This record gives sequence, structure tokens and C-alpha cells, in this order.
Amino acid sequence: MKACLMANVLTISTSAFDDQKPGTSGLRKKVTRFQEDHYLENFVQSVFACLDGFAGKTLVVGGDGRFHNDVAIQTILKVAAANGFGRALVGLGGILSTPAVSHLIRKTESFGGIILSASHNPGGPDGDFGIKYNTANGGPATEVLTDRFYEYSRTITSYKTLDGLDVDLEQLGTQRLGSMDVEIVDPVEDYAELMETLFDFGAIRTFVKSGFKFKFDAMHAVTGPYAKEIFTKRLGVPASDVLNASPKSDFGGGHPDPNPIHAQKIFDMAMSGDGPDLCAASDGDGDRNLIVGRKCFVAPSDSLAAIAANAHLTPGYGNGLKGVGRSMPTSGAVDKVAEAKGLPLYETPTGWKFFGNLLDSGDITLCGEESAGTGSDHVREKDGLWAVLMWLNILAARKQSVAEIMMDHWSIYGRNYYARHDYEEVDAAAAKELMAALETGLGSLVGQETAAGIVKTADVFSYYDSIDESFTDNQGIRILFENGSRIVYRLSGTGTVGATLRVYLERYEPAEGDLAQDTSEAIADLVSVSKSLASIDRFTGRSEPNVIT
Ligand code: G1P
Ligand code: ZN
Repeated sequence: MKACLMANVLTISTSAFDDQKPGTSGLRKKVTRFQEDHYLENFVQSVFACLDGFAGKTLVVGGDGRFHNDVAIQTILKVAAANGFGRALVGLGGILSTPAVSHLIRKTESFGGIILSASHNPGGPDGDFGIKYNTANGGPATEVLTDRFYEYSRTITSYKTLDGLDVDLEQLGTQRLGSMDVEIVDPVEDYAELMETLFDFGAIRTFVKSGFKFKFDAMHAVTGPYAKEIFTKRLGVPASDVLNASPKSDFGGGHPDPNPIHAQKIFDMAMSGDGPDLCAASDGDGDRNLIVGRKCFVAPSDSLAAIAANAHLTPGYGNGLKGVGRSMPTSGAVDKVAEAKGLPLYETPTGWKFFGNLLDSGDITLCGEESAGTGSDHVREKDGLWAVLMWLNILAARKQSVAEIMMDHWSIYGRNYYARHDYEEVDAAAAKELMAALETGLGSLVGQETAAGIVKTADVFSYYDSIDESFTDNQGIRILFENGSRIVYRLSGTGTVGATLRVYLERYEPAEGDLAQDTSEAIADLVSVSKSLASIDRFTGRSEPNVIT
């Protein structure tokens, strides 16, 4: 039945907030900030004010189901209707994973979409919330556009909304909100179909049936319903092997980041000698992934490289790749594959928004980040379940263990020992001072002998996008050593409290070298040099990172 919600358009006076600058991936704040009067409306109005030509067009809206998701969606729909959108597509219950939003925008040729998530950050009333605008290509708005949103938000004086009732997010079908149609859609179906076009579901199903043991941890986040449909229903994985599959608004009190620390249970399961052949997990909004084979953790940078080397074994990528992209702090493991296969390699700043133009232009097929993000040109977001399916398909095709595949990979391309050290919630001013001091001293570093080697170059990474001709500066400090090692320093752009200093450490071991070292031992010298070069203790009062991934 088509409910009809009558409504009048209201213009509400408001005052600007000074903190609505989107970061690496949208605007992220504490839930309590988003609950303040006008805060969300101001930001959404600022977004719409910077867009042209959406009257009568479609907007996709969905989120990862975290606390405040449903309330925020009602607010956004009213502002969208009052501003003149013709139709909104909303996931049932307000749920849509980030890659599913991207796909839905593309499939329905919508004008754009709004994703509500703070990704892997904890949820709940005291947790984090976030909002991100994606354009018609399905990808996050470019930096040029997000800068405009921010500028507008600084001087906003009013927004438009409706005085109408809320829509029923739990009822599939079309409802009317003012002059806008709101269609509540199945969040899983379209996405699952897309996956079937990319991977050999028949081969994976047979592989699972033949005794291959796989476990997936949805971390009480958005991928639960997707995992049930894809892994259990379509691929025959026993329901009991899909863990924490019911989404919860506080992620069950956990931190939905699929890394060895926050997904420790499934990580330990795989690392035990008699554990499953493959354990995997995804994050709050379904764009990140964890891949652990029996006794073999696949670091995200290595996963990107292994996928680049093996993607041709899957139907969606059977014709090979056009090129590959990685964010600057991601290890150079994929570079070795690109070099061997003669593929163009692009190095971009941190954040998926920088891959969008390269994917659109067809310069790259595959891209990834060290922060557990891997994806391809099938959507314009990183995609957690896609990465898991890619690994399942590669394993089914090669009929080898994850450890065998990785050992074989390193014996061809060499191994990039890699780790990221995070110093979380340090004083924001101190973190800025640390980066400024490091930058000032860059010139004198070159040629310096350290315990990790002689410094070859030291610079601040910037990026020129030849497609839209935009220039992005200040994207982290790189210190490269003559022996191929590297230390990168940058400040996180996704946190909500203080600052997070990220230190990325990488050491290359050629194929004929020792490929079976413990990562922390392999990079021990780099770690101590990273601390002394930046005087981390002196600036932050921390002698050790609090998260190592
Ligand atoms: C982090 C990751 C980055 C990723 C982003 C969104 O951003 O480092 O690779 O794109 O989350 O998932 P950061 O906090 O480092 O700015
Ligand atoms: Zn995420």
C-alpha cells in the first residue's frame, strides 16, 4: 500500500557550526554532536547547496545500522524532499553496506547517495557517527567537492525541511514524503547478484562441499545479512560458520575493525594449527576485510598484491587487469606484481576518494589500501565481502592453502615486511608540532646513516590528479632509505578525539632472501629509528604505539 505523508516545506533559521569539515572519509563526530539541534540538517543542506541539477532525481540513502542511523535517515529524507529530490532509495531498516550503496547508485543511475557510517569506529550512544556524500559514479565526493560543502557549512543561515511524518523504514515498497517518493528496497539482493557475476560461485560451492573450512565474522555489523545470503544460502557455508551475523546498533559493544586486534577471536582461530582453512571478517559498514589462512595472516598490502597476481583466475577479471592503484602508505608489494606484469601503477593519497577518477577513466581495475581496504572497478568503494569472495575463488581455483599461495608469491616477487603503528588519542596540538618539526628537518635527513640504513630521500607527499587536474598537498611525510626500506608518518583524518599519529614501516626482502621472518623482528630497527627521527616520545609522551596492525 502506498502511504501518503502530506507535508509542508519549512525554511528553518540556523547558525553555522565550525567543525563540519569532512575528513578522509566524510564527516565523523561523536553521536552526541550529531544529536545537537540542526547539526545534521546544516551539513545535509550544505551538501545539497553545492550540487546542481538534482531536482526530480534519485538519492540513495542507507547506513551501517549503528545507533542514530534510523533517526538520521528520517532527518535526511525530509531535507532531501524539501530540497526537491524526486525519489529516495533506502535500504530496508535503513541498512545498506557502503559497497552496496555504491552499487545501487550505479545500477539505478541515481544522482548520488548518502552513507551513514563511522566505518570501523565503535557505535552506540557514546560512540561515533558519520555521514558521507557519494556522487553519480558511486564513489565518495572528491576533495574539491567536500571542501565546498565545508565552506558552505561555515556560513549557512537556513535549511529546508518538511513538517511531515516519518516514513516506515521497515516496509518494502514505495511511500510518499511531500513531493518525493521513498522506495524501501532489499539491501542485499542487487549486491549479491553483482558478486555472482564476478566470481565462480559454482567452483566455490564445490570447494566448500569438498571439506574446505571457512569461517566469517560479521562483527555484529552491517555484513551479517549479506554474509548469510551469499555465504550460507548461495555458497553452502554452514550457518554456524557465519559468526555475529545479526547487526547491532552498538556492534555488540565491540570495535568493528577487522584486524588482528579487534577481530582477535577469529584471528586466533585461524592461527591455531588445526583451525579453519580461511577465516575472514568485515567492518562496521562492510568495506574493510580481514583475511587469515591457517597459520597465515595476510597483511592487507600483501592481499592486494596476491589478488593482483591471481585475479585472472576469476571470471570477472579473466581478461586481466588494466592497471592497479594503491594509497601511498600501502606497501610496495603490489608494485612488484605490476612491474612483472607490465601494468601501470598509481600511488594516491590515503582515502578511497582518490581512486574514483582512475577507476572511472579505466586506468585501473584494482586498488587497495594498507588499512584493510581492497576493491575494483565493480563499484567505487572498497569492498569487504568482494575481497573475501576473491580469496575464496582464488583458493578454489588453485587448490592450495593460503600459506602456500603466499609463500609462492614471495618466492616470485620478494616480501615487503610491513606494519602500521598507531599512537591514538594523542594531544592534537602536540601531534601537529611533531609533524611540523619533522617537516622542517627533512632536508638534513638525506644522507644520514641510521640503524635502518642511509636515508635516500625525505619529502612531504602531494598528489596531482591529471584527470580532474586537482592538486592535493600535505599527505604524509615519507622517508625512503637506500636499501628500499621506508617510514611514513601521517595524521589520521577519521578520528573524533584528539589526534592519531600513524607510522607506517616497510622493509623489502628480495625473493632469494629470508622470507619466513617474524614481521616485528624484520622491522625492529625501522621501528626504533621511526621513534627517534620524529621524537615521538618527546612530543606525545608515548614510548609505544597503542595499536599495531
Ligand atoms: C583510515 C585509513 C584509510 C581509509 C580510511 C577510511 O583513514 O587509514 O586508509 O581510507 O580510514 O576507511 P585515516 O584515519 O588514516 O585518515
Ligand atoms: Zn569501513
